[in-house]
Amino acid sequence: DVVTLASDASEEAQQQYLQSHADKTIQTILLLVAMEAEATPMVEALGLKADSPPVIPPPAPCHSFSGRHAGANVHVVCFGKCKATGVDNVGTVPAALTTYLAIQAFKPDIVISTGTAGGFRSRGAAIADVFVSTGMVNHDRRIPIPGFDKYGVGAFDAIPTPHLQKALSLKAGVVTSGNSLDYTAEDMARMVQHEAAVKEMEAAAVAWSADLFGCPVFCIKSVTDIVDGERPAQEEFLENLHKAAGALQAVVPQVIEFIAGKRYSEL
Ligand code: ADE
Repeated sequence: DVVTLASDASEEAQQQYLQSHADKTIQTILLLVAMEAEATPMVEALGLKADSPPVIPPPAPCHSFSGRHAGANVHVVCFGKCKATGVDNVGTVPAALTTYLAIQAFKPDIVISTGTAGGFRSRGAAIADVFVSTGMVNHDRRIPIPGFDKYGVGAFDAIPTPHLQKALSLKAGVVTSGNSLDYTAEDMARMVQHEAAVKEMEAAAVAWSADLFGCPVFCIKSVTDIVDGERPAQEEFLENLHKAAGALQAVVPQVIEFIAGKRYSEL
């Protein structure tokens, strides 16, 4: 019947998408960003428009913006607001949900987790620097049971981007994710062990969802605060959010211009 045929067709499209990530030319780019304050300048710089009616319908809280930039289809999806508190849905739970739904909706050739982060001075980070990820890990998932210990770290490689890093003079390193703005001594030991360059709250979850679809992923993160510095993260974060968002607004369009129309192997 019609219903079965429709679901067969979409299953086939899904299968085709899952198998479509051999060294292909990048035509559709999905950017994921937690906070509206990070997304808005980027959406404006890229000239994107809010998708209306929504492409990802309620009750999913996320918002998507779409358009063309540098000959590519570009979608920015932010995680929306918390029903209970009205603040942005930051952290790994909304990140995984939004990424899954956005990949299903937009079938991107590549996923970029972007936004702000804390930076490690010991790895060369300064305020408003922009980093590209080499890999993504979790630093706050401690499960000391064989097998689950590795699952807890949840490490994923970023797609290699040596030419992008060089062309845009971006710093590169491991992005580490956790659900707190601060960190415990154990978190810090793990961040050091994983050679983290930047610390934020979403990338490892975005990578997990992208990996379900076999879709390549990397991060572009700008630094609001110094993790291994003297000041509390929240103070520096609020002070530098505008500056770091401005850095993203400048760099993200350049990243898109560089990757659009290139093959994965040319990044
Ligand atoms: N976002 C910006 N700075 C951060 C930090 N220090 N930790 C987690 N997320 C952040």
